[in-house]
Amino acid sequence: MRIGVYPGSFDPTTNGHLDIIKRSAKLVDKLIVGVLHNSAKQPLFSIDERVMLLEELTKDMDNVEVCTFSGLLVDFLKEKEANIIIRGFRAVSDFEYELQIAQTNYSMNNNIETICLITRVEYSFLSASIVKEIARYGGDISKMAPKETIDLLNKKFNINN
Ligand code: PNS
Repeated sequence: MRIGVYPGSFDPTTNGHLDIIKRSAKLVDKLIVGVLHNSAKQPLFSIDERVMLLEELTKDMDNVEVCTFSGLLVDFLKEKEANIIIRGFRAVSDFEYELQIAQTNYSMNNNIETICLITRVEYSFLSASIVKEIARYGGDISKMAPKETIDLLNKKFNINN
C-alpha cells in the first residue's frame, strides 16, 4: 500500500493546498494530510480549527485522512507506515527550502521519497500568509480560498459579508 503524507501548517487551507491534496490523492492509495502542531509558532487558527476545516474540505475524498503531528516529520511517517512526502512547488523561490527539507528528511530515512507537485499557474502566487493578509483588510479572496476558509477568516477578523 502506497501511503503519502502531505505535511504543512495549513493556517488556513487555501485553494493551492486543496489542489495539491486532490492531485496527490490520485497518486497514492492513502493520503494523510499532516497538520503541524508547533508550539513555537503563533498560528492564526488553533490546531483544532485547522484540522476541522481540512476534515470538512476533504470529507468526500475517500482515501484522504487528516492528522496532526509534532516533532519530526520522518517520525510521523514511520508511525503512519508512510514513505512518500508530498509538497507543492510554486516558484523558484520555493526551491532552496524544498530541496533542503527533502534532502534532510532523506538523510534521516532513506526509504522516504519526496514528491513535489508543480502548483497550477492560477495558484502559483498564493500562500496562506497572503490570503490572511488580504482577508484581514477585507479584500476579495474568493478565487484564493474555498468558501469554508473564507467564512472562518471573516469570522476571525469580524468581517460581515
Ligand atoms: O507549510 P509549511 O509551514 O511550509 O510546512 C513545513 C513543514 C511542516 C513541512 C516542516 O516545517 C516540517 O516538516 N516540520 C516538522 C519538523 C521536521 O521534521 N523538521 C526537519 C525537516 S525540515
